[in-house]
Amino acid sequence: MSQTQETKIYDAAPSWSNFVTVKTTLPRRPFPPNSARQPFHTERLTLRPPTKDDLQFLRRLRTQPEVMQWTAAKRIDNDLAETESRLTPFLTPNDALTYNFAICLKETGEFVGIGGFHNGGFDQGEGKSLFGWPEVGYMFLKEFWGKGFGTEFLKGFKELWSKLERETVEGLRVDERSVVRKADGSAEEVLAALTTDVNGRSQGVLRKCGFEEFARWRDEAEGGTGDVLPSYRWCPLREVRE
Ligand SMILES: CC(C)(COP(=O)(O)OP(=O)(O)OC[C@H]1O[C@@H](n2cnc3c(N)ncnc32)[C@H](O)[C@@H]1OP(=O)(O)O)[C@@H](O)C(=O)NCCC(=O)NCCS
Repeated sequence: MSQTQETKIYDAAPSWSNFVTVKTTLPRRPFPPNSARQPFHTERLTLRPPTKDDLQFLRRLRTQPEVMQWTAAKRIDNDLAETESRLTPFLTPNDALTYNFAICLKETGEFVGIGGFHNGGFDQGEGKSLFGWPEVGYMFLKEFWGKGFGTEFLKGFKELWSKLERETVEGLRVDERSVVRKADGSAEEVLAALTTDVNGRSQGVLRKCGFEEFARWRDEAEGGTGDVLPSYRWCPLREVRE
């Protein structure tokens, strides 16, 4: 069959029942608490732990339709309570399971976005993580797009993520397509990222940061968006060894 836009066959959606079990490494949890996370500086940005005082900034970010159209919900937050529920997972004591950062301008401290490991879900069973691996995400106020901040943030976050203490995990269930085998049969640790095929900016950020696409599938599940979702991986420890 010719692969026109209408007939293109995509990869299958990730399905827990088809996952394989691997031996790999993962960052050790609990993550270092917010109180122990020092602000991390890139050329123009500071990555620091979110605080409850970031609520109004997060509200501004999460009420920009241009930003929120790229989230799973595809809509702005309904009210301040909903925004608050999106900040709480990053505050103590929930920082034990998340590693997410407020992203600010280094010079002024002005809040420009948020990014990192935010959903807390990996090695916790079906439905907790799309591919079984931790996933990275990020969003910036629209006024700050197109200045290279997305790329600068992700490069900084990669460094922070790579340096976290590791533990060996024997029976992690992951999407087989994401697996990069090592010579001894174990799997390279993966940090995954999911975007949509029409989000050129986000794909640009991922590619420039060394993430590679391993699957591209259409979200046809009940209640799904129908979007085509390129799925990316990056192996933190492989880069450290090279
Ligand atoms: C996605 C987002 C983080 C990108 O941040 P940013 O600071 O604008 O990104 P950068 O400037 O670092 O890089 C974007 C790159 O993509 C490129 N790009 C932009 N539009 C593109 C398109 N349609 N197709 C391909 N590449 C594109 C840019 O040219 C740039 O690369 P370059 O620096 O080599 O020119 C930001 O737009 C955002 O917050 N969007 C809303 C939330 C979101 O989409 N989050 C990601 C969900 S997966």
